[in-house]
Amino acid sequence: MNALSKVFDAYQQVGDLAKFYDDMMTNSGVLGRLALKFFWGLDSTAYEKFLTQAFAGIPKNFSGRLLEVPVGTGVLSLPIYRKLDGAEIFCVDLSDKMLDAAKIRATQLNLRDVTFIQGDVTSLPFADETFDLILSVNGFHVFPDKISAHAEVWRVLKRGGIFCGSVYVAGQNRCTDLFVEKFCQRHGFFSPPYETLASLKKFLSERYARVEVTNVKSFAGFVCVK
Ligand SMILES: C[S@@+](CC[C@H](N)C(=O)[O-])C[C@H]1O[C@@H](n2cnc3c(N)ncnc32)[C@H](O)[C@@H]1O
Repeated sequence: MNALSKVFDAYQQVGDLAKFYDDMMTNSGVLGRLALKFFWGLDSTAYEKFLTQAFAGIPKNFSGRLLEVPVGTGVLSLPIYRKLDGAEIFCVDLSDKMLDAAKIRATQLNLRDVTFIQGDVTSLPFADETFDLILSVNGFHVFPDKISAHAEVWRVLKRGGIFCGSVYVAGQNRCTDLFVEKFCQRHGFFSPPYETLASLKKFLSERYARVEVTNVKSFAGFVCVK
C-alpha cells in the first residue's frame, strides 16, 4: 500500500470516529483532554495558545478568497468562518468521510459561501494565484509528499497572500515524538519526515517574503506572506 492510501484509510476511520477526534481537537470530554495532555503535553492554557497561534494568520474581517487544506471535520475552523462575512471559502480534504462530518457541521452552523472539495493537496483544482489566504492546520505532518504540497500551496496563493496554520515539529517533547513515531506514523495518521522548529523556520524563510513562526510544545504556528 502506498503512503497516500495508508493516510486515506487512516482518516476514513477517523471520519467514522469523528466524535472522539473532535473532542481531542477541542480539548473536551475526558478522553479528549487526557489525550491532549498526555500525548501532546497540552493543558488547557497551552491548548488555548495552540488555538490562537493556529489561526493567528487570518486577519479580522478577512473578506477575500480563502482555501483551507486539509479541513478535516472542520471542528476548529468552521466556527471561525461564521465571522468572515464576505469571504469566499474553499475547503479541501482527501477523506470523503472527514468532509462529510465537515459538511454536516457547516449546515448546522448555517454557513454559506463555503465549498467542500474532495482532493489531494498535491494537485489542487485551482488556477495559479487564486487565493488571498491559505490555511493549513495540522496538515503538513500528515501529507506524505510535503514538497509537492508546498509547491501547490505556493502556486495557488496570490503574490502578497498569506499562508498560515500549524504543524507538528519534532524535538520539542520526547513523549510526543515517541507517540508520533510509534502510533501516529505506524497507523498512517502522520507521515515522515517532520520539520524541527529550526528547519521549519529555515524552509519557510527561503520561500516566503515574510515569515513568523511560534510554538506551543510540539505544535508550531506559522504566518507567511508570499
Ligand atoms: C490531522 S487532520 C487535520 C484536519 C483539520 N485541519 C483539523 O485541524 O482538525 C489531517 C487531515 O488531512 C487530510 N489529508 C491527508 N492527506 C491529504 C492530502 N494529500 N490532501 C488533502 N488532505 C489530506 C486527512 O484526510 C485529514 O482529514
